[in-house]
Amino acid sequence: MQLARQLLKARISAPGAALKPSCLRPTTIRTATPTASPRLYSTKPKEPLHKSKSNFPVVPLVAIFLAGSGAFAYMVNQRKELEQKVKAAKEAESIKQVVKPTPFFNPKEVTVLYVLGGPGAGKGTQCANLVRDFGFVHLSAGDLLRAEQERPGSQFGELIKTYIREGKIVPMEVTVALLQNAMKASLEARKPADHPPRFLIDGFPRQVDQAIKFEEEVCPCKFVVFFDCPEDVMEARLLNRGKTSGRSDDNIESIKKRFKTFVNTSMPVIDMFAKDGKVLSVNAAAPVETVYSTVKSEVARLLKEKEGK
Ligand code: ADP
Ligand code: C5P
Ligand code: MG
Repeated sequence: MQLARQLLKARISAPGAALKPSCLRPTTIRTATPTASPRLYSTKPKEPLHKSKSNFPVVPLVAIFLAGSGAFAYMVNQRKELEQKVKAAKEAESIKQVVKPTPFFNPKEVTVLYVLGGPGAGKGTQCANLVRDFGFVHLSAGDLLRAEQERPGSQFGELIKTYIREGKIVPMEVTVALLQNAMKASLEARKPADHPPRFLIDGFPRQVDQAIKFEEEVCPCKFVVFFDCPEDVMEARLLNRGKTSGRSDDNIESIKKRFKTFVNTSMPVIDMFAKDGKVLSVNAAAPVETVYSTVKSEVARLLKEKEGK
């Protein structure tokens, strides 16, 4: 150790000592010196030649800068897209306001009455009387749906079957199309008559969106006949009808579901038309003839008023 220190001292103090060939230099000096250069067999990766002497973190800063600019560009792009979408939506809306859909049938030439009421209120029964006395064409939405369900090859057969059994409202596109087709077919087959064609649209609209669509695209109604009947009366009538009707929904489970749908989904339609003063409300719990005597006189009065005859 003593020797090593002496040799080290001698080397540091002797100029040109480092230039001696390594074989002549004592190995102990090399290992002992604190400024020894890295060993050649070191597994450490060699430092890059161009390594910056400065501690300034260039690479992370560049990465942050690039990420920031990318995010900014993305945000600007998103904003532009959003602005374009809003502009397009506004344009579409203004076009809609200018080009309001024209109803397929002219309400000045065609009389439409909606006949509404809970299941079993007596809509079909009273419609038969109105057909006889006023020359209406009777179109029951439920009957049209049942016929479509039975039609061989119908793509809606299964869907209608399920909706009817569950007492739910069939998607309006199906029902509106069936009604419009039936009205068209009836008008095409019609012989000239002295009063405008009259339609009783029975059991429709059963939902507010159906009402809006039909009024805008098919034909606005003149007024609504609403058969108002308590649930217990309707339930007894439907269970009685179920003995012979063969209908998949004239059973107590389906009846309860239909009542729920009527209260939650169909009553708002009646309320909507009532606000416009377009509802003729009739007590439907009375016997058939009693109900009809009111309906007959009121419908006669309203037709006169609305058809201007
Ligand atoms: P809706 O078409 O509203 O479902 P319907 O006209 O088919 O109702 O009538 C349901 C059942 O009640 C039928 O069996 C019908 O004969 C009977 N019905 C209809 N109106 C009356 C009434 N005012 N009094 C007693 N029974 C009625
Ligand atoms: O009017 P009706 O009692 O014949 O209707 C039977 C069923 O047909 C309803 O319970 C409903 O499932 C379906 N329906 C419908 N939309 C309508 C009329 C009837 O989904 N506008
Ligand atoms: Mg009916």
